[in-house]
Amino acid sequence: MQRIVSPSMLSADFGNLERDTKMIDGSAAQWLHIDVMDGVFVPNISFGFPVMKPVRRATRKVLDVHLMIVEPERYVERFVEAGADIVTVHCEAAADIRGCLRSIRRLGVRAGVSIKPATPVGVLDGVLEDADLVLLMSVEPGFGGQKYIPSSTAKIRDLRRMIDLAGTGTILEVDGGISAANAAEVFAAGADAIVAGSAVFGAENPVAEIEKLLNIR
Ligand code: DX5
Ligand code: ZN
Repeated sequence: MQRIVSPSMLSADFGNLERDTKMIDGSAAQWLHIDVMDGVFVPNISFGFPVMKPVRRATRKVLDVHLMIVEPERYVERFVEAGADIVTVHCEAAADIRGCLRSIRRLGVRAGVSIKPATPVGVLDGVLEDADLVLLMSVEPGFGGQKYIPSSTAKIRDLRRMIDLAGTGTILEVDGGISAANAAEVFAAGADAIVAGSAVFGAENPVAEIEKLLNIR
């Protein structure tokens, strides 16, 4: 499968959100990652629907929305209305994860399930059938700019094996602490897609950095 890079808009300049979105729109990145935090599921608050609007207006690329919120089933429909192409919910946050994924699919977009670093990949057994994407967290969700947790690489390998065995074609995306220094390791372990926030927006040339992440060996 072709590699995917999904720059996290959490690290964009919110005072120039349209400019930064257009910059990513003009890059080789296929997706834009949107981190929504509610201050309850994670100890931080990011943004919600009104902030997604200018992003949606400024790009036709895939909006990859990562919900770090409690009771995500209450809000999935509004995120689809706001322009999400992929809605990812945490399995630790949803009371009925399979039901939640199915309702996302019924809304006509791709459904993702995310797991935190301490959650074993085994919880996804029997869930992959309902998931177009798994988002494996390689940092504790809540903040950009953290260090990649090294044990994530073994989890990526295990999950790759599980997905291939299940034959569901579920996309494996990894999120947190990924840069040109470790992207090769993450892809080699079996990731299809990577999220990169600070590595992209902190680079002198974000567009070139995306190119580098896509082509790294
Ligand atoms: C963390 C978010 C990540 C974050 C990634 O809670 O889910 O998407 O923005 O940022 P970096 O790439 O800086 O770790
Ligand atoms: Zn994220």
